[in-house]
Amino acid sequence: MKYVMGIDLGTSGVKAILVDESGRVCCETTKSYRLIQSKPGYCEQNPEDWVEQTMAAMTELMERKPVQSRQVEGISFSGQMHGLVLLDESLQVLRPAILWNDTRTTPQCVRMTEKLGGRLQAITKNQALEGFTLPKLLWVKEHEPEIDQRIHLFLLPKDYVRYRLTGAIHMDYSDAAGTLLLDMGEQTWSEEICQTFDIPIRICPPLVSSEAEVGTLLPQIAKETGMTEEVKVFAGGADNACGAIGAGILSSGHTLCSIGTSGVILSYEENHNRELNGNLHLFHHAKKDAFYTMGVTLSAGYSLDWIKSLFAPNDSFKDLLAGAKDIAPGANGLLFTPYLVGERTPHADSVIRGSFIGLDSRHEKAHMVRAVLEGITFSLNESIALFRQAGKRIDAIVSIGGGARSHTWLQMQADIFQAEVIQLENEQGPALGAAMLAAVGCGWYESLEACADQFIHQAVVFTPNQQHVDVYDHLFRLYQSIYTNTRDIHAGLAQYR
Ligand code: XUL
Repeated sequence: MKYVMGIDLGTSGVKAILVDESGRVCCETTKSYRLIQSKPGYCEQNPEDWVEQTMAAMTELMERKPVQSRQVEGISFSGQMHGLVLLDESLQVLRPAILWNDTRTTPQCVRMTEKLGGRLQAITKNQALEGFTLPKLLWVKEHEPEIDQRIHLFLLPKDYVRYRLTGAIHMDYSDAAGTLLLDMGEQTWSEEICQTFDIPIRICPPLVSSEAEVGTLLPQIAKETGMTEEVKVFAGGADNACGAIGAGILSSGHTLCSIGTSGVILSYEENHNRELNGNLHLFHHAKKDAFYTMGVTLSAGYSLDWIKSLFAPNDSFKDLLAGAKDIAPGANGLLFTPYLVGERTPHADSVIRGSFIGLDSRHEKAHMVRAVLEGITFSLNESIALFRQAGKRIDAIVSIGGGARSHTWLQMQADIFQAEVIQLENEQGPALGAAMLAAVGCGWYESLEACADQFIHQAVVFTPNQQHVDVYDHLFRLYQSIYTNTRDIHAGLAQYR
């Protein structure tokens, strides 16, 4: 039997899976690492933690019998997007990585928009938002000039880990698209953007496509993880692009809901010409010559983790969600907005924070958990509403990640999204997309589509319950009004954080 390994470098941890030629996931493991939040709006991680935990995950999979090291033919990666990793001339990390959910760069985004607004959109197909990489580079230039002067190269999180495993430096188009430095039409680093913001183009790494074979494991890494030096390493892609591959989102008309630390609604695009509104993004897919549009909720799974850590740190997620199952839609008059670290879509706002509206002395923990689930789903529905306004038809949505592990939440998604929601058999999120890139790269299948036919199967389809649809339709409009009605209050509160 032959295997490929898919590695997803997430925000809360790294997940690694081994998949055989038939698409069977024979083993998986997850290793977690710290988030450093030293100030409000700051989210950083130590790249060394990623490397250590990725190697620990690889080693653990290789220790599981009966897989033999020489049976593993290929490895590929998926990773949290946009995070800035800075390296000096000797390729040493210069400072902790600044992550996608770090919102310190509002002033840089405002200035970028003033300086290049329309052109930035025309070149990159996106607007300046705090999460993206270029504003982070500009923040370092302004606040840490001594570091800025020593920058030799910047990488994104999974590219740094892959560099440490192989010694080879690359970035793939799906991740490069999230830097705000890529010319989407030309598929090259944009000289115009680099010049405008005084970024030396030499700090941008070589670009490759996601399925490109970029090297093999360094001898020492192969030895430490119990793998062979022959294993082929493929570039891989952004986590949302890999999540889409692992869910079979490989042609027009297909939509994904993926809930990890963030939550996204993603829709396949044939080209990069779509005009977007409301802070939707347009990025390169990890499938060649394909694209996707996407809306992002910054704190999706993160909101659920937060409420669990407050009220039920010792419960399993299953128990936590079981309590919410018997509460009626609307959580007895309670609404939650998941703006714990600010928001991206539809309101790009680093100052806004979350709220519970409608708290009543009869509310219990289960009502609050239900309101959190509903609030996350309402937030994602705002992206669906934007897609529908832009003329997209969304009748069916494949759901992956944390949101796909509970029938209660899947049914809630169908009722709020007013679409069929599809759960997959043996769903593995972006790690499966990474494994599929390796499987195609190793020549097991002639295309990602052929691989998807073999690897991906529907499990259950959740259809909207009309009674719930009507209730949620009303509640969604109330939910949407919370942002405009609380924005000034949050701006006033910001000085006390
Ligand atoms: C996408 C984004 C997040 C991260 C999470 O733009 O910022 O979904 O990719 O890992």
